[in-house]
Amino acid sequence: MNDLPRFPLAALPTPVTELPRMGAALGFRLLVKRDDLTGLAFGGNKTRKLEFLMAEAFAQGADVVLSTGAAQSNHCRQTAAAAAKAGLACHLVLMEPPKPSGNLLLDALLGAKMTWTPRSRRDEALQAAAEAESAAGRKPFVIPYGGSSPLGAAGYAFALRELLAQGVTPDTIVFATSSGGTQAGLVAGARLLGYRGRILGVSVDEPAGELKPRVAALASQTAALLGEPVDFRPAEILVEDAYAAPGYGVLTEAETSAILRFARTEGLLVDPVYTGRAAAGLLDLASRGAFRRGETVLFWHTGGTPGLFAQGYAEALAGAAG
Ligand SMILES: Cc1ncc(COP(=O)(O)O)c(C=O)c1O
Repeated sequence: MNDLPRFPLAALPTPVTELPRMGAALGFRLLVKRDDLTGLAFGGNKTRKLEFLMAEAFAQGADVVLSTGAAQSNHCRQTAAAAAKAGLACHLVLMEPPKPSGNLLLDALLGAKMTWTPRSRRDEALQAAAEAESAAGRKPFVIPYGGSSPLGAAGYAFALRELLAQGVTPDTIVFATSSGGTQAGLVAGARLLGYRGRILGVSVDEPAGELKPRVAALASQTAALLGEPVDFRPAEILVEDAYAAPGYGVLTEAETSAILRFARTEGLLVDPVYTGRAAAGLLDLASRGAFRRGETVLFWHTGGTPGLFAQGYAEALAGAAG
């Protein structure tokens, strides 16, 4: 696997720890990879992608980075922090409506410029914002939605290498998937490194029929970037979309109950949008016998915990916590 230029942002390796009380209740060995602890402005999976994306921004001589996401985007928060750390300006094109949220406050604290767009015009608005930055004499570097370009996804091929170097080879890795970059990187890394466990993305919002081809294409491009072309097929990509139906960011009873259960059994905080949905999926899959007794399952915690403090979620969770 080729190494790629990296702008250091994350505190690596992130810890892998056992969740023995939850594992005993579920009937298998349960580990967690703590990418909520990547260390940059409350951490999360995007920090790993941004190490490679920011190195490329520097290589291209950029002085402003642009990206896009929801008001409650963890990717945008980490992009704003990465830009601040790199001494570059940051322009976030956020999707309406501008709901008060934990991450929106952090974007402002981190000095990002924010403009708003209807969801349907997201990618055009990002392009138009980059053109406006150019017209104003700056050199923009555009990071796509979710940081999920082949270069960003490569961050998760290296993350898998990091996990294996920690002496951990789980039978199954479970995590939240959405724009697909995390899964594409893990899948590409697995093939290149000879890891044979299951890589199961729990979709937060997208139907498996859309996500699988996207992840397969991105994983193929990522493998090529890492020096070993592989043609991944959608059928090889494992996506569970049974929990996506309520829609992006909708906090249901299942997520609320998973948040409380992980917090109260293991002192582990998962977020309302991504890791809470993946954790709820993990618990439901376990109850349906999706994991063998005694197998090792690794829950890859991808961060997002500032979402716990976003106004609507904080109120609902406080009510549920009693
Ligand atoms: C906390 C968290 N987990 C998981 C994901 C999904 O990662 P990906 O977009 O690479 O599929 C995101 C994406 O925004 C996220 O913020």
